[in-house]
Amino acid sequence: MSKHHISFTLNGDPTEVLCDTQTTLLEVLRDELELTGTKEGCSTGDCGACSVTVDGRLVCSCLMLGVEAQGKSIGTIEGMAVGDKLHPLQQKFLEHHALQCGICTPGILVASKALLEKNPNPTETEVRYWLAGNLCRCTGYDKIIRAVMDAAAEMRGA
Ligand code: FES
Ligand code: FES
Repeated sequence: MSKHHISFTLNGDPTEVLCDTQTTLLEVLRDELELTGTKEGCSTGDCGACSVTVDGRLVCSCLMLGVEAQGKSIGTIEGMAVGDKLHPLQQKFLEHHALQCGICTPGILVASKALLEKNPNPTETEVRYWLAGNLCRCTGYDKIIRAVMDAAAEMRGA
């Protein structure tokens, strides 16, 4: 079967790839582009481990076809740090010990960044609701929520 040539922006860089019709965006990222920061958990849209942004909106990349990325702007965990400088959310996750195995962490960071870009001053309840689609089986959620709230405060200059 012939492959589709798709071009899109990935973490700010123009990107081109060949992919089959049925290949998911998650598979394109991990298998074709070797960006393995985006994790595969359930493959059914339930765990949030595969979260990326598409034109600024939070999306489960396991539920999106690679061909649907044509012309879009995709953001992944690899685009969060700037060189050696961690994003404030990444720094706060370290300080609050908000991760253990780390499988859920990229998705939670990408989702949290999308939240803070939309709402820089969320309540704890809003953070909990926003992250309800991101499952973590290791830490319990309190440290994750504390890290997001702390990062939000720092980013607001509070
Ligand atoms: S791997 Fe996509 S939501 Fe779980
Ligand atoms: S740190 Fe392991 S699933 Fe969240």
